[in-house]
Amino acid sequence: MRLLISQALDTSIIDHIQQQSPALEFDVWEGPGAMSREELYQRIGAVDFMLSTLRDRIDQAFLAHAAKLKVVANIAVGYDNFDLAAMSCHQVLATNTPDVLTDATADVTMGLMINAMRGLSRAEAAMRQGQWQGWSPTGFLGSDLSGKTLGIIGLGRIGSAVARRARAFGMEVVALARPGHTRAGEVPQVPQTQLLEVSDVVSFHVPATPETFHWCDRQFLSQMKKGSYLINTARGTVVDSQALVEALRSGHLAGAGLDVFETEPLPLDHPFWELPTLVMTPHIGSAAVQTRRRMALRAWDNIRQYLTGQLPEDTLNPEIWPQLSK
Ligand code: DGY
Repeated sequence: MRLLISQALDTSIIDHIQQQSPALEFDVWEGPGAMSREELYQRIGAVDFMLSTLRDRIDQAFLAHAAKLKVVANIAVGYDNFDLAAMSCHQVLATNTPDVLTDATADVTMGLMINAMRGLSRAEAAMRQGQWQGWSPTGFLGSDLSGKTLGIIGLGRIGSAVARRARAFGMEVVALARPGHTRAGEVPQVPQTQLLEVSDVVSFHVPATPETFHWCDRQFLSQMKKGSYLINTARGTVVDSQALVEALRSGHLAGAGLDVFETEPLPLDHPFWELPTLVMTPHIGSAAVQTRRRMALRAWDNIRQYLTGQLPEDTLNPEIWPQLSK
C-alpha cells in the first residue's frame, strides 16, 4: 500500500505514521510549494491513500488518473477542493479534520477583529515609519469592542467558539445559522435583516458551497450599518471582493479583516493592497504548531481507521461504505 503526502509535513508526523503502519510505502512531496497538477497525475496512479491539502483539487480529471486510490484525507476542515460526487462515483472515501482547528481559527478571527477595530497594524506601521510623535488624546483612535454587537453568520463549531470569545470581550452576540443548520444554544438567532441592522461587526463562519458563494455581496454590504466591520476567516468566495472594495473605499464600512481570499495567494495587483482600513493575513486561521500537528494526525487517523477495517470517523461520503466494506 502506498501513501502520497502532497505537501511536506513535520518529519515527526511521518515517523509516527511509519511506526503505526510499517508496511506502508511513502511518496512524500518535498516541494517547493504544492505539487503541480502534472506531478499529481504522474504519481497518483500508484497510490492507495493521500494526505491532501486544500491546494489539491480532487476532481473528475484527477480521479481519472487514480486507479488504486481508496481514501483522500484532507488536512483541513474545509473540503471545497473535493468534488464529493466524483469521489463517490470513483469509490474514493473523503475525510476532513473537524474540531482540532476550532480554537485556533476562532483566535485568528478575534485577532483580525481587534486589529481592524483598533488599527493595530496601521499604528505599528506608522510607528516603524517614525511617525509617532508621542501619546496624544486623539492619536491612533479605533473603536471599542466592548459594548458592540457581533453578528455571526454560521453558528457551527468555529462560529460558536468566536461567540464565546466575543462575549468575554464584552460584546453582545447575535447569529444566523446556515439554512438547515440551526442549533439550540445561548446565542440569540435572528433573521439576516435584523442581524445586519444591529451588528457593528459581521463575521462569516460558513463553508464554500454554491449556496454561500458571494453571500456577502453589494446588497448585503449596503445593509450593514454605516461604520461597521466585516471579518472573514471562512473562505474567500463567501465575500464579493469587488463589492467589499467599494464598501471600504466609500467609507460605508469602517474596516475589514480577511484571512481568506477569492484567489490565493492574493494577486499582487489586487485592489485590496491599496485599502488602508483592510487588515489581511495569509490564510493562517489554523497555522499554530500544535493545531497543525493535530490536523495532520487526525487526517492520518482517518486513513489508519480504514486500514483497520473501520469507517473513518470523519468520512464525508459514508454512503459508499457499504459497497467498499463488502
Ligand atoms: C481549513 O481547515 O479549512 C482551513 O481553511 C485551513 O486550515
